[in-house]
Amino acid sequence: MEEKKPSTADILAKIRAQKAAAAAAAPTETPLSAPETPAPIAAPESAPAAASTPAAAPKPAAAPGPKPTSTKDIMAAIRSGGAKPAATPSAAVTTPAANLAPAAGTTPVAGAAPAAVAGPKLSPQEMLQKMREAKAAAGPTAAPVAVAAKPTTPVAAPPMPAKPPSKAGKPAAVRRGMASFATVASFSAICFLFGYLLESGFLIALGALAWGALLSPFMAAWAAVAGIGGIWTLGIARFMFPNVLVEPPSKFKVGPLSDYPLNTVSNKWKDQFGIWVVHTDQYEGRNMIFALASVCTHLGCTPNWLDGEQKFKCPCHGSGFYMTGINFEGPAPRPLERMGLRIAEDGMLEVNKSVKFQEEMGQWTDTTSYVEVV
Ligand code: FES
Repeated sequence: MEEKKPSTADILAKIRAQKAAAAAAAPTETPLSAPETPAPIAAPESAPAAASTPAAAPKPAAAPGPKPTSTKDIMAAIRSGGAKPAATPSAAVTTPAANLAPAAGTTPVAGAAPAAVAGPKLSPQEMLQKMREAKAAAGPTAAPVAVAAKPTTPVAAPPMPAKPPSKAGKPAAVRRGMASFATVASFSAICFLFGYLLESGFLIALGALAWGALLSPFMAAWAAVAGIGGIWTLGIARFMFPNVLVEPPSKFKVGPLSDYPLNTVSNKWKDQFGIWVVHTDQYEGRNMIFALASVCTHLGCTPNWLDGEQKFKCPCHGSGFYMTGINFEGPAPRPLERMGLRIAEDGMLEVNKSVKFQEEMGQWTDTTSYVEVV
């Protein structure tokens, strides 16, 4: 009853011996017949206890020890992937034959792959690798399982921030409001600009009114303060650049002597330089040319030369002056004033307005106050 169970080594030794005997009995058999040799069948005979008793079945699964739990799972996965024959107890028995097949020079059949169960223990990594290979061989049905398991982890991803509303999505009322604001603001700016350029207070006030309509009362008040400050700034800036008076030069040429016939008064330079060029021989009987200032000696009005009356007549208070400049009627207290006159190097008459000569002061005798014609 206490018959010792044969070990795997004993079983393998017996199988080899039977194989050798069979080979000796039929040396002409081809290697392909090796799997059909009674070896697999004989194995159960040589190990009836292993095939018939349940104790033989755990042998291939002898691996179950502390690790067997995970190995079982792995093997179960491998079997579910198409290695069912190895799961049967008979497979455990045939595995030795499968191991023998290579020894006989034959190629192992597909069913011999699970023989690894009877070999050395596989590490968990190797088991996982085999499981992956089995799943890959099982076809596409295994793939979705892994794919379905993945989506469970990314659940913790933070929510995406809400996108700002696009411009196209803005209500039409908002766009119309922005267009109205831009229009009124442009109108206000134009009013300010032209008001400043044209110095028009009305345009500036209109611009301020239009701008104020766009703002709240608080903002309108600040805008008014800013506007007043801006106007003051512009005024100060304008003050820093005063008007420039463009005055005619004090010395200028009025042409040759031949341009002025005897006993004539020329109005040619009256408007531009404020003088008359007079050529006469009525003053002290001397033929001379001199320049008279077109300024009334009463209150500064501009007299007119009346050629028909041969006199200067002031339109303000009626003062009258002879061709020589001597006053003879009206409130004018003294004769008209002469300007400096000389013949320049080029033969032209040159007037110098920076020098004045008054007859009542005896200055007309100065030779620089006239040019004598000989
Ligand atoms: Fe010429 Fe009075 S200003 S007469």
